[in-house]
Amino acid sequence: MLRISVMSPKGGVGKTTFAANLAASLTERTGRILAVDLDPQNALQLHFGIDPGDATEPSRKARQGASWQEAILRNKHGVDVLPFGAFGMAEQTDAGHAASGRLEGIETLAADPLFKAYSLAILDTPAGTTPMLRKIMTVSDVVFIVLLPDAASFACVPQITRWLQHDHGQPTESCHPYYILNQMDARRRLHRDVKTLMGHVLGESLLEFHIHSDASVSEALAQQQPVLRYAPHAQSTRDFGRLAHWLGEQGVTERAMSVS
Ligand SMILES: Nc1ncnc2c1ncn2[C@@H]1O[C@H](COP(=O)(O)OP(=O)(O)OP(=O)(O)O)[C@@H](O)[C@H]1O
Ligand SMILES: [Mg+2]
Repeated sequence: MLRISVMSPKGGVGKTTFAANLAASLTERTGRILAVDLDPQNALQLHFGIDPGDATEPSRKARQGASWQEAILRNKHGVDVLPFGAFGMAEQTDAGHAASGRLEGIETLAADPLFKAYSLAILDTPAGTTPMLRKIMTVSDVVFIVLLPDAASFACVPQITRWLQHDHGQPTESCHPYYILNQMDARRRLHRDVKTLMGHVLGESLLEFHIHSDASVSEALAQQQPVLRYAPHAQSTRDFGRLAHWLGEQGVTERAMSVS
């Protein structure tokens, strides 16, 4: 099982939207996909019509030692979802530990013959540059860092590149994630300028294509479905399709099929 993780130093940039819609686009190329929610907000499942309440009991059982398989929620969009799970006040302080446990769960899933059905796992993460996110990076085959074409995202680029190169002042093993802009409106001068400046700093790590700002994206979420189901011909549907195609060109989907 290959793993693609989606992260960002910034909150609210569209990580969950990106993870959910990329997963939906990739099902056509790779078969069943497991979308793993590593964020206590539990928002990933909303994109697949899964009620937040559905996550509570199975994931609680899994944390108490039951099989992770019991926590996986199926839906009609071909993307199975492993929710982070619901927390009470006392458990919330321990959410980081729960997420680490979830990572061990991913290792177990990857090794379990029953999960040969999954070629790919897509991991949605909370915002930040934390040790937890570094751990997620180390179990990922592909990492996407989602940014907005604005001054706030541009300002955090040095922070994220430093974080990728160093951990507590010590150089770490090299990590080469792909940066992608979300909610781009190429008619706006600011968006074009920020993209150009980011390209100077990030070079080829910044993907040439982007995800457009598109009302269909938030309308699809309101309908609790991936945008390709809600609006098959929308610009954002084409963008996620292009991204899936690009992953194919990088050999990622072929590798996923061969390891499944
Ligand atoms: N390409 C897009 N076009 C229009 N709206 C978008 C797009 N991408 C995301 N959004 C909207 O932006 C908002 C934030 O998206 P999302 O929740 O995916 O961000 P996030 O980075 O996961 O946030 P958090 O840091 O809280 O986890 C949502 O209302 C979503 O519908
Ligand atoms: Mg999110």
